[in-house]
Amino acid sequence: MLADKRILLIIGGGIAAYKSLELIRLLRGQGASVVPVLTRAGAEFVTPLSVAALAGAPVHQDLFDLTTESEMGHIQLSRAADLVVVAPCTADLMARMSRGHADDLASTLLMATDKPVLIAPAMNVHMWSHPATQRNLATLIADGVAVTGPDTGDMACGEHGPGRMSEPGAILAAIEAALTSGPLTGKHVLVTSGPTHEPIDPVRYIANRSSGAQGTALAAALRDLGARVSFVTGPASVAPPYGVEVFRVETARQMLDAVTAALPADAAIFAAAVADWRVQSAATQKMKKQPGVLPALHFSENPDILATVSQGAQRPALVVGFAAETRDVVEHAQAKRTRKGCDWIVANDVSPETGIMGGQDNAVHLITANGVEDWPRMSKIDVAQRLARRIADALEAPA
Ligand code: CTP
Repeated sequence: MLADKRILLIIGGGIAAYKSLELIRLLRGQGASVVPVLTRAGAEFVTPLSVAALAGAPVHQDLFDLTTESEMGHIQLSRAADLVVVAPCTADLMARMSRGHADDLASTLLMATDKPVLIAPAMNVHMWSHPATQRNLATLIADGVAVTGPDTGDMACGEHGPGRMSEPGAILAAIEAALTSGPLTGKHVLVTSGPTHEPIDPVRYIANRSSGAQGTALAAALRDLGARVSFVTGPASVAPPYGVEVFRVETARQMLDAVTAALPADAAIFAAAVADWRVQSAATQKMKKQPGVLPALHFSENPDILATVSQGAQRPALVVGFAAETRDVVEHAQAKRTRKGCDWIVANDVSPETGIMGGQDNAVHLITANGVEDWPRMSKIDVAQRLARRIADALEAPA
């Protein structure tokens, strides 16, 4: 699978560095060659000797190593690889990468490379969830860096939570995915997901039961087929997928702005459960309870994002809407497809007894210009993968 592939592996300074030795073994087992780089902190956790022995190649450690500079040089070292992998990628390395530091061999290689970069973060749970790290993560993803993990579990420091480096097998799979081009490689796909929150006053809002699970699974499936995904999400209860560009919004109007800013795209999938109405003028101060007086809410209609994009100047080649219905599912969805002007509608029955809204499964009907397909009930992940493949087929098909 990885025959003739050359992986530049930067080993950062974390306890997870020992797993990188196993990663080297797995990579070589798949036919890849590994060019190891050990940071100064990384060398506190694994020795250059063990890394070199497993890699079957010398370890690079110093930016000003004269032998290397005369033989190869850091620019060439960073570009001769097919993929640059940072594992473990510490909080400090993430911060330095996101700010563009180039003051040691690892950071200079990362700045000089013209190849894709994959990081496997590893750190204490609080360091991972710290806003600074999450900011750096968002920057790196926006810069096109692929991310695998971290996993959730018990950590060497005795705490529990997200921060453990992915297992070597999972990193290997991410490396294979990063090096394999999929049918959507080079395509930009926009996905909306989750509910919107429409404020009543600073502490209250109107929302719906969407978890964001279907939109999230779809974004991940499109990413796995090689697409560059812009993921515009309302306040969902599931975390956004890694490896996509995330735009967080609260209201329908913010969602429309984010969607418009993310265009143009080759395809746009509107999986969000957008609130149809907003409170006309949300109070700027908390509404106080007054004995015997009930507040009256006056509503305004929100913009229809799907219809706006379907009928707009920057219409993607393929526009897919969802239809959440509680009765006459197919009839309503067919009418929605025509009314909004999209190409496909993925219709589902969200009556409470189906358990679909907020649940793991979905049972959908795919409505296109050619008719209606009834898909069997399956997990939202399976729906996403099947739909992503259909989207890839549609974008590949000659116009
Ligand atoms: N949608 C949108 N903007 C809105 C409302 C809906 O982009 N303001 C999109 C949804 O993301 C979905 C599709 O339109 O792809 C249909 O959403 P749905 O809630 O099923 O339909 P509505 O347009 O709200 O119609 P109704 O409430 O009458 O069922």
